[in-house]
Amino acid sequence: MRAVQFEKYGPPSVLHVAEVDAPHAGPGEIRIAVRASGISPGETLIRSGAMRDLVPATLPYRTGFDAAGVVDEAGEGVTGVAPGDAVFGMTTMEARGANADFAVLAAWAPKPAAWSWEEAGGAAGAVETSTRVLDRLAVGAGQTLLVQGAAGGVGTVAVQMAAARGATVIGTASERNHDFLRSLGAEPTTYGAGLAGRVRALVPDGVDAVFDCAGGALPDLVAIAGDPARVVTIAPDLTAASHGVHMSHGAPADETGEALGAGADPLAVHGLAIAADLAGQGRLRVPVAAVFPLAEAAAAHELSETRHARGKIVLVP
Ligand SMILES: NC(=O)c1ccc[n+]([C@@H]2O[C@H](COP(=O)([O-])OP(=O)(O)OC[C@H]3O[C@@H](n4cnc5c(N)ncnc54)[C@H](OP(=O)(O)O)[C@@H]3O)[C@@H](O)[C@H]2O)c1
Repeated sequence: MRAVQFEKYGPPSVLHVAEVDAPHAGPGEIRIAVRASGISPGETLIRSGAMRDLVPATLPYRTGFDAAGVVDEAGEGVTGVAPGDAVFGMTTMEARGANADFAVLAAWAPKPAAWSWEEAGGAAGAVETSTRVLDRLAVGAGQTLLVQGAAGGVGTVAVQMAAARGATVIGTASERNHDFLRSLGAEPTTYGAGLAGRVRALVPDGVDAVFDCAGGALPDLVAIAGDPARVVTIAPDLTAASHGVHMSHGAPADETGEALGAGADPLAVHGLAIAADLAGQGRLRVPVAAVFPLAEAAAAHELSETRHARGKIVLVP
């Protein structure tokens, strides 16, 4: 089968399509024939080598963390899904390799009929991450949430999932994305200098929590929330600890529900079923910024590196 991989750190051009052996579903896993898969901004940092001290890559490194497709193998102990079913989901953190003809998923949910393959292919990582952070911040009805970086792959999903919980959502983006954010259910404002004043003008009583998808503005976000414990960032902002802000990354949970990794939060895979349900009600969509064939994975990474894609970037076979 074909898979996108790189053998050495470097610019997007190190990515290429390789002919490799197809993986097989282990216990508790399924294999899908991939119809679409997502680009993960974090993997652009792994590919460039910028994260090599924190997250060393095992080379060759096969990219892609989330995908949608048709089940063609179910591993030992798997119930409730059968070959031929359409699903979306995510690989394990270690295996990855979803940017390929076949992928092994460790967590999945039925593909909502309302979503195109492209939407479903880019959904799982954003849904899991949004659920993990909204759970940690205990975002619920009657609360006000600020989503910093609301027009990106994660932010667009976080806005909708927070609104579905009954929260009032303020989202930051550049001006050209403000109508787009309104269409997702957020009150938009611009990020950058003066953010605290703009937020205060929108919600004089203040915000209850901040979900940071962008990094680089934690002092302002802590001041807006009034307490660093009410701010969670997912961006690789290495100043987080010095500001008392939790930087969330996911790891599988053990049988007690605790994450199997230092400083990690348990992967919120229950979010996949919640998202499928919301999609069925027409309350969650996955905005797709651009679609590329596998062979143009380098162009997809280039677009991701602009940090101005609107929604998810997706690869199709
Ligand atoms: N820790 C985790 O579990 C986890 C999981 C997923 C992603 N991540 C990380 O979280 C970050 C967001 O992921 P993503 O998929 O949403 O990324 P993305 O899709 O690349 O985000 C692009 C968006 O960021 C906005 N943006 C750019 N600069 C900004 C700034 N200074 N302030 C506010 N917004 C800004 C852009 O809005 P405009 O075009 O309107 O400027 C654009 O819509 C990435 O760093 C990613 O690596 C972490």
